[in-house]
Amino acid sequence: MTETATAQGRGKLIVFGEHAVVYGQPAIACSLARGATATIRRSHQPDWRVLTDERPLQVNDQVLLAGARLLEPFGLCADELDIEVRLQIPVGAGLGSSAAMAVALARAAARLQEISPDQIDARIDQAVAASEAVFHGAASGIDQRAAMGSGFFAFQRDDGHLQIDPLTIPTRSWVIARVAPSASTAEMVSGVATLCDRHPEVMPGLIDQFGAITRAGMRTLEQGRWEDVGELMDLNHGLLAAIGVSTPALDEACHRARSAGALGAKITGAGGGGCIVALSGDDGPGPIAAALGSLGPVYSYELPSPTSMP
Ligand code: MEV
Repeated sequence: MTETATAQGRGKLIVFGEHAVVYGQPAIACSLARGATATIRRSHQPDWRVLTDERPLQVNDQVLLAGARLLEPFGLCADELDIEVRLQIPVGAGLGSSAAMAVALARAAARLQEISPDQIDARIDQAVAASEAVFHGAASGIDQRAAMGSGFFAFQRDDGHLQIDPLTIPTRSWVIARVAPSASTAEMVSGVATLCDRHPEVMPGLIDQFGAITRAGMRTLEQGRWEDVGELMDLNHGLLAAIGVSTPALDEACHRARSAGALGAKITGAGGGGCIVALSGDDGPGPIAAALGSLGPVYSYELPSPTSMP
């Protein structure tokens, strides 16, 4: 019987289409090289630690519930395990930390239980979706796909039909800045749902516009037409502000990034706090990172990342 298993999941960057993706529109995201590493050991002294670059995280009721839902499809229970998760991305910042953690844990659980190869993918999908529902409410599944994959991809889930297309996009520097405290993804998604209920004559058209931006974004990304990509990111940010998921801090960070030479800047992820993403201009990421550095931690990524993960 396997006693210890270790596995990884990746973080993600959404470049176009967050929130609208919950309503069947396409979105574009990229898996990051960094994410989460989980180690699960069978143990008579159960424990659960979530470690970050800064400090250990409190394993709260939400994490325990998500963990229970995640382990159950593998016939495991946290009471019989020593679990350690190391996160290499900030938590609650729109970079997919919960999905990275869930995928790392599900893969480790599958190895520990020696799940047969023909069942592994379906079992991991089921487990991660159950866990993500705790953090995201009506999750589209885009974070889950990014945590399991690599590179850029287009993602659309429409009427239960799932379409995922890998995208070949030239390498470019992207700057991600964490400028505001975390917000709950489930609350942000539910706020947009309330707006849809309250304004049924307006919201469907607005959501369609997110889709139009994402489709144009896909073409311009694939062709490396960076100025157009940047303008579309700015338009996407404007729509995200219109549906109430921006904040003064996120707007200010986008303005600063553009003034420092970014070709475009927008919220990435659920918003309400967390991160913005800025597309580097000809001067590279340095001036943008310098302009955003006083607001919080800044990460600069060459994307797509190398495909291998330790
Ligand atoms: C969160 O990373 C992205 C959202 O669109 C929610 C989802 O798609 O599950 C806000």
